Amino acid sequence: MAQNGSKVTRRQFLTYTLTGVGGFMAATLISPMVNFAIDPVLKKSGAGDKVKVMSLDDITTEPQRVDFKKQTQDAWYEFEETLSAWVYKTDSGEIVALSPICTHLGCQVAYAGDPTRPTEFFCPCHLGRYEKDGTNIPGTPPTAPLARYEKEEKDGFLYLGSPVAQ
Ligand code: FES
Repeated sequence: MAQNGSKVTRRQFLTYTLTGVGGFMAATLISPMVNFAIDPVLKKSGAGDKVKVMSLDDITTEPQRVDFKKQTQDAWYEFEETLSAWVYKTDSGEIVALSPICTHLGCQVAYAGDPTRPTEFFCPCHLGRYEKDGTNIPGTPPTAPLARYEKEEKDGFLYLGSPVAQ
C-alpha cells in the first residue's frame, strides 16, 4: 500500500530491487556456462584444415606410407593425432592419398603387404584386398573402397586434410 503519497511501497521497492539483483547475479553465473556449452558449435571447425606432409618431388608411382600429425578438435577436447596415408602418383600425374584403415573392421592395410600380390593393398586381419587405387576387391571381406584424403598441392608440397569415404 502506498504511504505518504509515494507510488511505490517499501515492499514493492524491495521486491523490485531483489528481483533485479537476483536476475543480474543469475545472468552473471549462467552466462559463462552457456558460453562454455555452445562454444564448440560456434568455433570454426578444424576439419577442413590441411597439413603439409611431403614434397611433391618425393612422390612416385609406388605408394609410400607417410605419417603426419594433425591438430584435431572433438567437441571441447583438442588434441594432436598421428595419421597415416599411402601416397602415390598415377601414370597421368594425379596424386592419390589413401587412408590405411581397412573398411572391413579397421585394421591397417599395407601396399604389397602380401608378397604374392605386389600391386595391391593387403589387410592381414581377414585377408582383405584392395586395388592400387583403393577399390576393394570383390570376394574379400572389405565391402567399400579405402577412404581418400582431401588434398592440396601448394608451393611444391602436398597438404592433406581428412580422409573421405569413396
Ligand atoms: S579388418 Fe581388414 S579384412 Fe577385416
